[in-house]
Amino acid sequence: MTKLDASLSGRFAIGGDLEVNRLGFGAMRITGKGIWGPPESHADAIAVLKRLPGLNVDFIDTTESYGPYISEELIGEALAPYDKGTVVATKSGLTRTGPDEWHQVGRPEFLRQGVMTSLRRLKLERLDLWQLHRIDGKTPRQDQFEVIAAMQKEGLIRHAGLSQVSVADIKEASKYFKVATVQNLYNFANRQSEDVLDYCEANGIGFIPWFPLAGGDLVEGHDKARAIMDKHGASGSQIALAWLLKRSPVMLPIPGTGKVKHLEDNVAAAAIDLSDEDFAALDAIGRR
Ligand SMILES: NC(=O)c1ccc[n+]([C@@H]2O[C@H](COP(=O)([O-])OP(=O)(O)OC[C@H]3O[C@@H](n4cnc5c(N)ncnc54)[C@H](OP(=O)(O)O)[C@@H]3O)[C@@H](O)[C@H]2O)c1
Repeated sequence: MTKLDASLSGRFAIGGDLEVNRLGFGAMRITGKGIWGPPESHADAIAVLKRLPGLNVDFIDTTESYGPYISEELIGEALAPYDKGTVVATKSGLTRTGPDEWHQVGRPEFLRQGVMTSLRRLKLERLDLWQLHRIDGKTPRQDQFEVIAAMQKEGLIRHAGLSQVSVADIKEASKYFKVATVQNLYNFANRQSEDVLDYCEANGIGFIPWFPLAGGDLVEGHDKARAIMDKHGASGSQIALAWLLKRSPVMLPIPGTGKVKHLEDNVAAAAIDLSDEDFAALDAIGRR
């Protein structure tokens, strides 16, 4: 049986000093439909979270806006006090008005409220990694970046990151604080952020691809990719995750699920070691 151990994905030091296993967990899918309200089964959501330490998944991504608040509350309930080395990364910068409705709010007082209440919900005294969920186009960028720098100076957040940004955005924000991570849409079949990933790799910035499992269907539907799946006894999603892990040493995939079985399937991908040749063949398929 495949070893279920996220540490097989290798380690990455966020901000140069906060080490995590590269294959993490995205806690968006433990809420209700439309990422709104509580999950259908509270017990299932708690079971998924409680399974993480046993799989050596020590990097968890969430935000106040999943639920809203529900994802953070469940993490606090299931895992606090946290095992040594567990990093819960959270975000703020989006507010919610209903299922699948998200609105950018980057006003400094809103971002600060996000940090203060995330601390409470997650039962932490400092946030190891806090990310600006979106740069808000309605608020001066300088105001958003300055409050992040201030909260870092005050010790409320240890490392700071950005989400859904360009290389120019990262460079601009870097004038105010050290950008430790970037979280952009990226997967086997969607390479729009290739330039951002390359910039992150060159600058030691953790790159967190969201929607990492997409592209699994593409793997399954392709003859050459199917041969690679068969060789590893793996599903298309697992190959898509293994491909991400090999793509860059700064890659920190956070597949999300509300089911223990799916969590275990995803962690099994950490044990898949793609050859350079198979990686290149998959790369070409994904680019098409
Ligand atoms: N920064 C941002 O703007 C942003 C945006 C979106 C997401 N995120 C973060 O990124 C994380 C991942 O993104 P995502 O959840 O959208 O995409 P994902 O992880 O690629 O896919 C999640 C979907 O795949 C299903 N799934 C997961 N594992 C599976 C498996 N082994 N077999 C079959 N189905 C499986 C899940 O359903 P089940 O629950 O049924 O397993 C869910 O519907 C989120 O949890 C969140 O933390 C960030």
